[in-house]
Amino acid sequence: MELTDAPAVWLRDNCPCALCRDPRNGQKLFQITDLPAEPVIASTRELPGGSGTEVIWAPDGHRSVYAPGRPGQDTAATGDGRTEADKETWVAADLAGRVPEATWAEYLADRAERERVLADVARLGFALLRDVPRRPGQVLDVAASFGFVRETNYGELFDVRVEPDPNNLAFTGARITPHTDNPYRDPVPTLQLLHCLTNAAAGGDSGLVDGFRAAALLRAENPEAFEVLTRTPVPFRFADAHTALRADRPLIDVDARGRIREIRFNNRSIGTLRLPAGELTAFYAAYRAFGELLQRPGLQLDFRLTPGDCLIFDNTRLLHARTAFAESGARHLQGTYADLDGLFSTLSVLRRQRPLDDLAALFAGQGAEQYLGEEVTQAQHMLQAAALAEADGASPALIAAGLLHDIGHFHSTVSGEDLMAGTDNRHSHTGADLLARWFGPEVTEPVRLHVAAKRYLCAVEPEYFGRLSAASVHTLEVQGGPMTGAEADAFAANPYARDAVALRRWDDRAKDAATVAPGFEHWRAMLAGLLRTDVA
Ligand code: OGA
Ligand code: ZN
Ligand code: ZN
Repeated sequence: MELTDAPAVWLRDNCPCALCRDPRNGQKLFQITDLPAEPVIASTRELPGGSGTEVIWAPDGHRSVYAPGRPGQDTAATGDGRTEADKETWVAADLAGRVPEATWAEYLADRAERERVLADVARLGFALLRDVPRRPGQVLDVAASFGFVRETNYGELFDVRVEPDPNNLAFTGARITPHTDNPYRDPVPTLQLLHCLTNAAAGGDSGLVDGFRAAALLRAENPEAFEVLTRTPVPFRFADAHTALRADRPLIDVDARGRIREIRFNNRSIGTLRLPAGELTAFYAAYRAFGELLQRPGLQLDFRLTPGDCLIFDNTRLLHARTAFAESGARHLQGTYADLDGLFSTLSVLRRQRPLDDLAALFAGQGAEQYLGEEVTQAQHMLQAAALAEADGASPALIAAGLLHDIGHFHSTVSGEDLMAGTDNRHSHTGADLLARWFGPEVTEPVRLHVAAKRYLCAVEPEYFGRLSAASVHTLEVQGGPMTGAEADAFAANPYARDAVALRRWDDRAKDAATVAPGFEHWRAMLAGLLRTDVA
């Protein structure tokens, strides 16, 4: 990190120390008014081993230690992912042959597929799940697979089919032009799901329009109209015998930086605007211009929902439509609302857990190869170390350290074979540095020290050396031999020395060809709980 690039107050506000942030949850423990009005950096110092930068502050003498690369001052980061800046906007032709879709079975079975579907909703505004069981109520399970159902006056779910006394045009066979749903709510449901149970009527085809693209076109072609639509609150209303909903919001909402963030467009539910005559005239001209643009040929993606299809779409961005259908034919969709925050959260957690897939692949791939001069494979060795740690009642972090302690062998430019041939590959350090991207010091530091712990035990426990395997004795010499008395004292003063020694003892025992330890998947949930939450 270039400490000098960042304003001092920003750096101080991002101090990671335990007085500034609760180590259990990362939440801030101070108010902005608790900071010195003008914090000044009194001194900085690079800590040994590249472990970070220390800053001493004036006037209060506070001490901050920033890990390498933290806090990241990434000015390219664009916000919460909801504005046009983080979207791929489209017209129909852009999606020819690449409509985002997956089968329900693939989506359920495969984390990577789930991540892709949710990422498509985030980026393109929608995804289509195929072969979703045609069971009434199933749409609620689809919503629950990534988030939370938003219950409304229509209930948890709503049926879209012809009804005898419709409180909404949706419940007739009428054509419905491109619109967003429920603009009369604030907050508006940000996601909608439509699950097709039956579609046997003549007509009733579906359409989607990317409202962000349309709004961007309006901004380019008719900036005044765009401006008017972002500044004019529109009274959206819905009323029936039990309900009176209202929200006054613009048709195009922009964020604090002027970027398109939310579209509300629904001709059925706009009430009566009450504004000065000049503003009314300007609004109607702009509203018409946007309405014409939304109907421009080429914008709308046309398709037909078939039974089992479930469309998931961003109701703050995409407009949806259907053609008229014959009321004599059977057509039945079930819909529900949900929210983007839950979907984005699920997507982030899936992304955060991606390293676990990489680790699983290492155990299955390289890890299944023979371990240097031992009877067991590298993977079996680490799995045994974790199982021994668990049997001894170790904490999850220390079990994880056991499970991952030799990961550096896989990621070193100096291979394990080189180590055996006499070049130290410093695998405990490369392993700890690799793991630090995903795990905290409770996991990484015992890993970092597990080689030093061998050298330590040789120095302080005369009978320890005699228990080492032949290969371990061989590598001990390459790694520096037993510690001197002074080295051993320095080691013992490290806060993670006890954990490292415990890890070392499991490490030494985890070479039993007759034992088969539980596989990597056994530890996945535990590892997921240890992943750093400050990285995604
Ligand atoms: C709705 C709606 C779409 C359809 O109910 O709001 O847009 O295909 N329905 O019936
Ligand atoms: Zn609708
Ligand atoms: Zn080991």
